[in-house]
Amino acid sequence: MNIGVFASGRGSNFQAILIAIQRGILPARVTLLLSNKSDAGALDVARSNGIPTIHLSQKKFSDEASFAARMLEVLKEHDVHLIALAGYLKKVPASVVRSYRNRILNIHPALLPSFGGAGMYGHHVHEAVLASGAKLSGASVHLVDEEYDRGPIVIQRAVPVDKDDTTETLAAKVLRIEHEIYPEALKAFAENRILMKEGTVWIR
Ligand code: GRF
Repeated sequence: MNIGVFASGRGSNFQAILIAIQRGILPARVTLLLSNKSDAGALDVARSNGIPTIHLSQKKFSDEASFAARMLEVLKEHDVHLIALAGYLKKVPASVVRSYRNRILNIHPALLPSFGGAGMYGHHVHEAVLASGAKLSGASVHLVDEEYDRGPIVIQRAVPVDKDDTTETLAAKVLRIEHEIYPEALKAFAENRILMKEGTVWIR
């Protein structure tokens, strides 16, 4: 399975995916790292692992259609079978979602469907969790559809929220499990163990 990873930031989830591949746990290859940010740490991770990179920003295109067309072209050039969003802060164009229906995954640092949606990224998520008084948070891997953080959930894992947690300590706890469940979810796709049933996803 050829994975195209999309990232806007430091790329620690991307790195976790690469480690799982290197250890022989995840039977896949990353054939492309795409970023909308020219200074994303994820680009350095890719370069130091010999993975092709592309900087693709909608700002450089006159409209969404030409941007989406270029994105599809790049995905084809790198023979990408599955897209893994790993801290990609932009919406994937609808035509790309349609072409890769049920083949785009995202990781979110909370237990969806709570604490997701537009504006819910990075520290905003953990702040909202702490403010709510929720006793559990966690991470969710889900399929991507046309709306932010809304597609069927593939894997979730919880962490306790403690009374002394800060945004930083909660983020660190959640990140640790993100690095576990993203490679696990990708492995299930690579091994064809995904079952889709009435709009929900189960791993065999
Ligand atoms: C992670 O918390 C992920 O859940 C969210 O963005 C963050 C990316 O972190 N979608 P990293 O760049 O993988 O370190």
